[in-house]
Amino acid sequence: MRVALQILVENTASLASLTGEYGFSALLTIDGWRVLFDTGAHDAVVRNAAALKLDLAAVQDVVISHGHFDHTGGIPALLALKGSWRFHLHPDAFQSKYVEKEEGRPVFIGMPVTRRQLSEAGATVVENTGPRELAPGVWLTGEIPRVTSYETTGGRFLVASPAGQWEEDTLRDDQALVIDHPEGLVVVSGCAHSGLVNTLEYARHLTGRTRVRLYLGGTHLMTAGPERMRASVEALRRHPVDTLVVCHCTGFYAAAELYRELGPVLVKGETGFRMVI
Ligand SMILES: [Fe+2]
Ligand SMILES: [Fe+2]
Repeated sequence: MRVALQILVENTASLASLTGEYGFSALLTIDGWRVLFDTGAHDAVVRNAAALKLDLAAVQDVVISHGHFDHTGGIPALLALKGSWRFHLHPDAFQSKYVEKEEGRPVFIGMPVTRRQLSEAGATVVENTGPRELAPGVWLTGEIPRVTSYETTGGRFLVASPAGQWEEDTLRDDQALVIDHPEGLVVVSGCAHSGLVNTLEYARHLTGRTRVRLYLGGTHLMTAGPERMRASVEALRRHPVDTLVVCHCTGFYAAAELYRELGPVLVKGETGFRMVI
């Protein structure tokens, strides 16, 4: 099995030809099958793919890790390329999602398109709440059990209920892609709102494999306090990951701490980063 992963959108870029944009998107090529994982916040996904000479229009499948704008905001730009995408997501990704700031009204951070707009554009929407095998050995996790005591969604997230009430958003829609590679699991997550350790443990549980060759994605440790950082590092020492490519909502200080604790296992992912396993 050959898996190539390239980050198309991340907060930072170190090449002048590429655009950094707050969010995440990666193009995965799994034995020739290409799947776009998340779409960034605006249109950098399309511009960066063009700059990297990647033909996005030839891709059909898009996995959405969760309904936040920094992972779904590129959808209108994708629809401008063509309508016939196939989106794989948890139905809660369509919820009206908000974040509560210190003061003032909650701020909308949800998807820029509705389910109806996607189908009117000609796209197919495939929803899952539990695990689903997209291709042999390629799993979408569905809802990730929250097992650890120290991991949270990482923010004060809310959903507006149909009755107009504010409710806590537990981000049940948060899911990861898990590739059962002979060298070990490849786990790709958007923000890991379920928790980095919960995500890794569920990937192991789902596949029955213990070795994780690669984790790629956000970790949402940017809001983690010392206790969560310490417990996460301990868990990563107990059940190591060969390569931990962190980006987006990991935050500079959490990434620096992971690097100090874990050494070169920790790699900073940025726009254009590419790896082949
Ligand atoms: Fe998020
Ligand atoms: Fe995010």
